[in-house]
Amino acid sequence: MVSEQKATGATYTPRALSDFVATEMLFDWSVPSNESLRILDPAIGDGELLCSLLARLPAGARKHAHVVGFDRDAEALRTARLRISPLVSDQRLDLVHADFLESTGVAATRGELFSPRSPGSYDLVIANPPYVRTQVMGSHAARELAEAFGLAGRVDLYQAFILAIAKCLKPSGRMGLIVSNRFMSTKSGTTVRRALIAQTRLKRVWDLGDTKLFDAAVLPAVIVADGGGDTLEGTASFTSVYSSDAPVEHRVDTVFDALTHDGVVEVGDGRRFVVCSGRLDHGPGAAGVWRVSTDRGDDWLATVRRHSWKTFGEVGKVRVGVKTCADKIFIRSDWDSLGTSQRPELLRPLTTHHVGRPFKAAPDGIKREILYPHGVIDGRRRPVCIDEFPNSRAYLTSHRAALESRRYVIEAGRQWYEIWVPHDPGLWSRPKLVFRDISEEPCFWMDLDETVVNGDCYWISCEQPGSEDLLWLAAGVANSSFITEFYDRSFNNRLYAGRRRFITQYVEQFPIPDPSTKDSRQIIASAREIYASESEAETLRLRRALDRQVWRVFGFNPEESTR
Ligand SMILES: C[S@@+](CC[C@H](N)C(=O)[O-])C[C@H]1O[C@@H](n2cnc3c(N)ncnc32)[C@H](O)[C@@H]1O
Repeated sequence: MVSEQKATGATYTPRALSDFVATEMLFDWSVPSNESLRILDPAIGDGELLCSLLARLPAGARKHAHVVGFDRDAEALRTARLRISPLVSDQRLDLVHADFLESTGVAATRGELFSPRSPGSYDLVIANPPYVRTQVMGSHAARELAEAFGLAGRVDLYQAFILAIAKCLKPSGRMGLIVSNRFMSTKSGTTVRRALIAQTRLKRVWDLGDTKLFDAAVLPAVIVADGGGDTLEGTASFTSVYSSDAPVEHRVDTVFDALTHDGVVEVGDGRRFVVCSGRLDHGPGAAGVWRVSTDRGDDWLATVRRHSWKTFGEVGKVRVGVKTCADKIFIRSDWDSLGTSQRPELLRPLTTHHVGRPFKAAPDGIKREILYPHGVIDGRRRPVCIDEFPNSRAYLTSHRAALESRRYVIEAGRQWYEIWVPHDPGLWSRPKLVFRDISEEPCFWMDLDETVVNGDCYWISCEQPGSEDLLWLAAGVANSSFITEFYDRSFNNRLYAGRRRFITQYVEQFPIPDPSTKDSRQIIASAREIYASESEAETLRLRRALDRQVWRVFGFNPEESTR
């Protein structure tokens, strides 16, 4: 069951974070000279953010403040009123028990554009919008939200709030938001990134990473931006903070104190973080992933670029594995229990993250197979004609009701027994590089066994026949300590416990050196040797040597590398 907290996205902001956002919002902000000052919290909860902000406003400005707050939770609004009343007179406090997104009409397809609370009318907007993922809000609500706000992929309510808030702001206004950091790096965050770059002037951004400032399953980020306008390149500062076990360079009391340092900082409770401050870099277009750019880091990446030939994404398409939407039926490790005479004809070996290990899969003794009812027929990808495979037909028919309950499959005009995302059946027989989406260190392995890759892994196959060497070269680069350094310098984005996310938009940017050079040929040979090695000691020796080759091929002296 979905908890109340998950369904409404109500995780309130701790005081220290609320004070931090309010202080940062008001820093270098000039109070408008006219008489009125309109302030909004679109998801006010118990009013913590507004209390912090109002307490920090110059007394003269507070006298003229007109405060508007929205929430769907009547009880929370009552608490908010009690807390804010001493700071603002009743006539100037407008607390609305309603859905902010619907009431303001800022969505492209919703009405009320000229309501008194119309867009573009606020001087200050402070918010910690609700985080409600697609799975929790339900697919219908997610689709509506996506349509109304032009979102795609895994939609989360906070993304719609960001877009709506940006529209509510006066050109001279300022917003301070606490949001999930996910939009900065994910594909589904593209619309939000583009809107923030194009429609606001971003001033300061913090990726608060795994600091656990928040009692929620999100890694938070704080954004301070001004209304109306275009973020000019290099004008927004960006600080990221992630846990680290590197030697301490500074000691401070709190995570917020740590943000004013650069390097490895230990806070009062003994936790250690690496703080990296620089400029916000969003790549050549407005939709690129966000990263911290520093002079030193940029020089390092420029060296990599000078020694790069192509990127992983240019060598082969990065794909996530198959998605059946009925794994219990299609994927099993006990097919043999059906007996030889009933074993479905369409079974194929399946690679899952369980066997992931750098360079070569490590079988875990479990034989996972997938019933894969797709093929290339007359040169086209199609579901097989199930009548030609009697055992498979009998097995699938025994689960027909469950398979047909995947209504979207039927509505899309597909056969009831199909896998939802089967990929090109012709590609499974090609060599491919498979990798786990989340791991501390990179974990990329070659699959030469023609397996189907499950949706818990990603994979790349070179579509030009005979280009297998490029995959070996990619495997050598991807499993090196160099790529971990490249990842951290390029993306500054980690999950809890130092784990990194090897998702498409990152991996497709990994560099590949010119495959024709002597160094690259050596890397290819070493990667093949590691794959073939049967001895752990030998594998370790070969991996160390290969690691040095990779640093060298990208223009660095392996002795001076930081890892
Ligand atoms: C993350 S909490 C933040 C509350 C408060 N601003 C704070 O920072 O402590 C999000 C709030 O959004 C409210 N909420 C959820 N959906 C909403 C919607 N569509 N419109 C307005 N408020 C909503 C929840 O009831 C919850 O109080």
